[in-house]
Amino acid sequence: MNVGVLTGGGDCPGLNPVIRALVRKGLKDYGFEFTGIRWGWKGLLEKDTCKLDLDAVSGILHVGGTILGTSRTNLFKIEGGPERAVKSLNELGIDALVAIGGDDTLGVAKHLFDGLGVHVIGVPKTIDNDLSGTDYTFGFDTAVAIATEAIDRLHSTAESHQRVMVVEVMGRSAGWIAVVSGIAGGADVIVTPEFPLTVEDVCDLIKQRWARGKRFSVVCVSEGAKILWRSGEQKEVLASDEVDAFGNVKLGGVGAVFAREIKRLTGLDVRDTTLGYIQRGGTPTPHDRVLGTRFGVKAADMVAQGEWGKMAGLKGDEIVSVPLSVAVDTKKLVTKEWWDLAQVFFG
Ligand code: F6P
Repeated sequence: MNVGVLTGGGDCPGLNPVIRALVRKGLKDYGFEFTGIRWGWKGLLEKDTCKLDLDAVSGILHVGGTILGTSRTNLFKIEGGPERAVKSLNELGIDALVAIGGDDTLGVAKHLFDGLGVHVIGVPKTIDNDLSGTDYTFGFDTAVAIATEAIDRLHSTAESHQRVMVVEVMGRSAGWIAVVSGIAGGADVIVTPEFPLTVEDVCDLIKQRWARGKRFSVVCVSEGAKILWRSGEQKEVLASDEVDAFGNVKLGGVGAVFAREIKRLTGLDVRDTTLGYIQRGGTPTPHDRVLGTRFGVKAADMVAQGEWGKMAGLKGDEIVSVPLSVAVDTKKLVTKEWWDLAQVFFG
C-alpha cells in the first residue's frame, strides 16, 4: 500500500513527530510505502512529492515546523480542485492519504472522503486546541509553554516599573492558549472570545490590585477577543482586511487596543506585547512530541484497518478514532468550568 502524507494549514510544533511515527510504524509493522506530499493540498494538485523512508524521517523528532512544508490551500475554492486532486492521487499510485491539519485541512479531507470516496485518515493539529473529537491537539502544549514563559518574564518587568503589561496570545476564536497560559503564568486578568469582559471590568480588576498594594498587573488577551465597553459599544480588531482561502480573517492587534484603553481609563503606565508566531515556531515540548508520536502510530493502524473518513483523537489517556465530521462540525471552545477556574485568580 502506498500512503500519501500531507500537512496543511498553519504549522505547529509536533508535526514532524507525527510524520516520523506514522512512517516508522507503517514501514515496520505493515510494510507500507510512503509518499510525502509537499506544501499541503497545493502539492497534491502539482504532484510535488518526496519519498518518505526511514532516512527521510530520521533526526526530525525535536524539529519544529514540518519537513513536508504547508500551505493554506483550499481545494474546494479551486476550479476542478477536488477532481484534480483525485487524478493526482491515481497518477501517483497513492492508495490512502493521511492529512495532518486543523479544521480547514480536515474539512477538505472530509469532503474528499464523503464526496469522492478518497481513502482519507485525519490527524488533528493546531496550537489553538479548538478541534472537537480530541481532548487536546499537539502544538497546544508548546504554545502554552512559550506563552507562560513570556508571562513570567513580563511579571518581573511589570513589577519593577509599576506597569500594566498586556500580552496578546494566539488562538483564533478559542481562548484556550490565553486561559491555560494565563492560569499557569498567574495572569491577573484573562480576556477571551468566549467569556467577554468589558474594558471597564478589566480596569476595575487592575484598580482592585492597586488598592491592595499590587502596583503592577499582567493582562493576557486572546487575539480573537472583542473590545467591549459598558455602554454596549464594541469593536473587533483585525491585523488587516486579508482573508485566507478558508475565509479566516487575519487577527492581531487587540492587545494594543486594550493597552490604550486601560491607559486612558486608569492613567497607569501600560505596555503591550504580542507573542505572535513565536508561539508556533521551534521545538515541540516532550508532551507534544509524545502526543504527535501516538497520533502517528494510531494513523498507521487506522490505515491498516481501513478506517477511512476518521481521525485519531485523544480521549482521557487513550488514543481513539473518531469520524472526521465530529472534528470539523463544531469548534471546541473554552468551557465554563475552565473559565470559572481562571476567574478565581483575577484581580
Ligand atoms: O491556527 C493557528 C494560528 O496560529 C492562529 O492562532 C492564528 O490566528 C493563525 O494561525 C495565523 O495564521 P497565519 O499563519 O495564516 O498568519
